[in-house]
Amino acid sequence: MIPILDLTRQHKQLEPELERAIRGVLEGGAFINGRNVAAFEEELAGYLGAAHAVGLNSGTDALHLALRALDIGPGDEVITTPFTFVATTEAIGMVGATPVFADIDPETLNIDPRAIAAAITPRTRAILPVHLYGLPAAMDEIVAIAREHSLAVIEDCAQSIGATIGGTRTGTIGTVAAFSFFPSKNLGACGDAGAVVTNDEQLAERVRRLRAHGAAVKYYHDELGVNSRLDELQAAILRVKLPYLDGWIERRRTIAAWYTVELGRLRGITLPVGRPRQAVRHVYHQFTVRVADRDRVARDLRERGVGTMIYYPVPLHLQGVHAGLRLGEGSFPNAEAAAREVLSLPMFPELRDTEVDRVVSSVERVLAPQSALV
Ligand SMILES: Cc1ncc(COP(=O)(O)O)c(C=O)c1O
Repeated sequence: MIPILDLTRQHKQLEPELERAIRGVLEGGAFINGRNVAAFEEELAGYLGAAHAVGLNSGTDALHLALRALDIGPGDEVITTPFTFVATTEAIGMVGATPVFADIDPETLNIDPRAIAAAITPRTRAILPVHLYGLPAAMDEIVAIAREHSLAVIEDCAQSIGATIGGTRTGTIGTVAAFSFFPSKNLGACGDAGAVVTNDEQLAERVRRLRAHGAAVKYYHDELGVNSRLDELQAAILRVKLPYLDGWIERRRTIAAWYTVELGRLRGITLPVGRPRQAVRHVYHQFTVRVADRDRVARDLRERGVGTMIYYPVPLHLQGVHAGLRLGEGSFPNAEAAAREVLSLPMFPELRDTEVDRVVSSVERVLAPQSALV
């Protein structure tokens, strides 16, 4: 079976370095707020070209605490995409605010700036774009809309670390950004981990306080916070991996180019957008195609030994958790169509050339005859 992702290959390659880093933490005896957390925060900020990075327990907490730091709460609306992982809107709910969905652009599968403009009300406080699958959202337009209406922009960079627009990294374009280092992400820890990134010193300080029980000085609690610190072991692991990230992204992009050339010759399949409007660097957290009879294609690929995944089968406005918003089928047709058709193919830097070849030939077979070579 060719897996959609196999983390053991990466960890095998890095075994000596990871073991040394983990042993260093165990021997150092500091597990919370140690030197690895501080160093990783600095290295991450340096990599991204941002002023501040604050290590946290998860990407979900990063979104949650970014919203808290912006004082967004009950009565406020945050505009976001219905086609994302639930954590995006979960965080909005956690602060008591209301998610307002804007449909996606069917070409990029990211939030459509025109739909954002139409969703603004006097209660809107922020726009929360997600750089889905590692493809940057239309930030030029989003930032312009936010400026015009005095809104914050919170970038959900869980899937987009390293992606750029005109050379600028995602996560440094909006007001504040949330990163996830969930193990399967392009930069993954060996457990849960995340970070808030911002150029705004006050926001960074506020998140630092919120992550540590609302205390800027230990045992002096200024406000209600949470316990959401990045731990030393995860920080040490992330420090080992960060220098490899750009090389891994290049390998992802090579595999994506290969898929694009080979699968681009087939009918009945839509590939990830190849010529986005802005000069963007897609980091292919996922290589996600669209096919009309998606479930059959997934089943046939599985029978041929190719693993696939569906990110995501149900758009958020149709999930039970958001039933209270009373948004029925047909509310966001582009997101609904995407949820019916998307299929992610194996994509990780350690995928072997022979495996990429086999994925390609399997997709060719499974799509035939309706997709006879053009
Ligand atoms: C788009 C998106 N947002 C937020 C998250 C939440 O990150 P975490 O799992 O680290 O809490 C994830 C990933 O899980 C994600 O894919």
